[in-house]
Amino acid sequence: MTNVTQMNETDRQYYFMEKASGHVAKLGEELGRRPTCCVTTFGCQMNARDSEKLVGILEKVGYEIIEDENADFVIYNTCTVRDNANQRVYGRLGVLNGYKRKNPHMKIALCGCMMQEPTVIEKIKNSYRFVDLIFGTHNIFKFAELLCSLFENEGMVIDIWKDTDKIVEDLPVERKYSFKSGINIMFGCNNFCSYCIVPYVRGRERSRNPKDIIREIEGLVADGVVEIMLLGQNVNAYRGVTPEGDTADFAMLLEYVSEIDGIERIRYTTSHPREFTQRLIDAYTKLPKLVSHVHLPVQAGSDRILTAMKRGYSVLEYKSIIRRLKAARPGIAIATDFIVGFPGETAEDFEKTMRLIDDVGFDASFSFVYSPRPGTPAARLPDETPYSVKLERLQRLQRKIDDNAAEISRNMLGKIERVLVVGPARRGEGMLSARTDNNRIVNFAGDTSLINQMTNVRITEVFPHTLGGELVD
Ligand code: SAH
Ligand code: SF4
Ligand code: F3S
Repeated sequence: MTNVTQMNETDRQYYFMEKASGHVAKLGEELGRRPTCCVTTFGCQMNARDSEKLVGILEKVGYEIIEDENADFVIYNTCTVRDNANQRVYGRLGVLNGYKRKNPHMKIALCGCMMQEPTVIEKIKNSYRFVDLIFGTHNIFKFAELLCSLFENEGMVIDIWKDTDKIVEDLPVERKYSFKSGINIMFGCNNFCSYCIVPYVRGRERSRNPKDIIREIEGLVADGVVEIMLLGQNVNAYRGVTPEGDTADFAMLLEYVSEIDGIERIRYTTSHPREFTQRLIDAYTKLPKLVSHVHLPVQAGSDRILTAMKRGYSVLEYKSIIRRLKAARPGIAIATDFIVGFPGETAEDFEKTMRLIDDVGFDASFSFVYSPRPGTPAARLPDETPYSVKLERLQRLQRKIDDNAAEISRNMLGKIERVLVVGPARRGEGMLSARTDNNRIVNFAGDTSLINQMTNVRITEVFPHTLGGELVD
């Protein structure tokens, strides 16, 4: 028999899953019921996918997954991109401590991006001593092994890695939705935008082999998935090595993926304007499965601020990408991210951002006031703009984007949209709910056999948050 230290990493982790199953079964006997577990996710889609991996292992070792944090085991998968994400975790940890006092065998684990920051670990060690397990983003693949340590040791278990070049394939994963799935194609980021903590907590870029990605997608298709979201901090930096030893870039990967039968819709997030190549733009002409929606964060509409942010492109270059994208795929919806109130942003800089919104006609944005992240270069810049002014700017920006989005919805009236039916509508007997390419919900009358299928719907009504439609053959 192979010794556990000589096994490949995937086999090792399956060995620990079996071992952990024994511990969970024993706990179940003590409790007289199946132990429960709750995974709470903060942050982006990469974290959401990581949580699906945690849940996959937890189910496999015998936990019952529940939504209630008053559980036998609670895991917070944290985010640290802005300070308020951290504050929410500290606040909710207080509530968990209350549960634990009433249920002393309760275990609490923290993982994710926040845990990659040494100051956070110090703070938890000093002020949140009731936490049982802490691990980071680089060693999430050894969750089963850490679970075993948790059962076999007294006191806080802490295991944080500074970085990794490891990608461990074929571990269990439990999807949240039956018809769609995220799929990691690359991890980490090498861009080091001056405000951003992600490269420090997610490590250097590493890409999965295209063969592994395609095999995983084929497995998902066999399991009923029709829409996939390719995930990475910076998907344009994807460089996968093919079995023949050639390098596949992101545009090439999209071609491979769109050849998979059964996949109807391909989305991806997040791309970066710096490496948005002409080949990627051409993919919108060639590949009908690529949705007519792209999330391309611009962050600001002033070149001075973009330079200070170290984004590596100018407003003109960004607009050129958008112009070529719209030519390649008429009607494509563009979503973006903005940071408002970056250190040194003047009223004039902000007006340039507002002008860019008009020029591009963004359909949606994820926008926030700048949050200084300790350890990033921007955190050391002087910043004299009062917070109230920044907040006012953010509100103006959001209003403008909402107005644009409403206009885009109005222009959809009478048009035929190819939609993915996601389930019965919340309201109305015999009504179905579907998603358009540009992420709008459209409700229409139809048979439940259409659920999880693509179909054509004519838009007949426009409401503030949804659309109404009718089936067309
Ligand atoms: N890789 C993606 C973004 C990942 S972080 C990209 O480069 O576009 C997601 C978003 O959080 C960013 O687009 C940015 O708008 C926002 N963000 C990152 N750091 C921030 C900070 N310090 N303050 C406010 N928002 C920030
Ligand atoms: Fe952060 Fe910039 Fe990397 Fe995006 S590209 S994750 S903003 S450093
Ligand atoms: Fe947050 Fe980490 Fe994502 S910091 S935004 S969860 S990569």
